Amino acid sequence: MKSKCLLTVASVMLFTSTTVFAADDGAALYKKKCAGCHGANGEGKPALKAPALKGTSLDADQLSQHLTKGEATSKPPHNKAMSGLTEAQAKAIADYVKTLQ
Ligand code: HEC
Repeated sequence: MKSKCLLTVASVMLFTSTTVFAADDGAALYKKKCAGCHGANGEGKPALKAPALKGTSLDADQLSQHLTKGEATSKPPHNKAMSGLTEAQAKAIADYVKTLQ
C-alpha cells in the first residue's frame, strides 16, 4: 500500500518534469532557434552579423522582450516578434542566455 502510493507520486513528478522540459527548456530552445546565428555557446557569428550573447548586458526581461516584441530599430529577425515563440519559451531562452559565459 505504502509503496504503491510512493510510486504514484514518483510517476506524477516524472510526468510533470518531462512536460516542462518539452515546453520550456531554454537550452534546447536556444539550440533550435538561436544557435544557428548566435553560435552554440552564444559566441556570436560575425559572418551573419549576429553579436555574441554571452555576457550580454541585457537582463533576462530585456532579452525575452527582444524576442517576443522585437524592436523597430533592430535588424531582422529582431525587428519584430520571433514567430512560433511563446512568452514562456522566450523567458526560458532568456534565462539560459544569462547562464552563457
Ligand atoms: C537569422 C539569424 C538570427 C537568429 C535565428 C537569431 N538572431 Fe538574435 N540577432 C541576429 C542579428 C543579425 C542581430 C543584430 C541585430 C541588430 O543589431 O540590429 C541579433 C541581435 C540579438 C540580440 C541583441 C544583442 C545586443 O547586444 O544588442 C539579442 C539579445 C538576440 N539577438 C537574441 C537572440 C535569441 C535569444 C535568439 C533565439 C530565440 C536569436 N537572437 C535568434 C540574428 C539572429
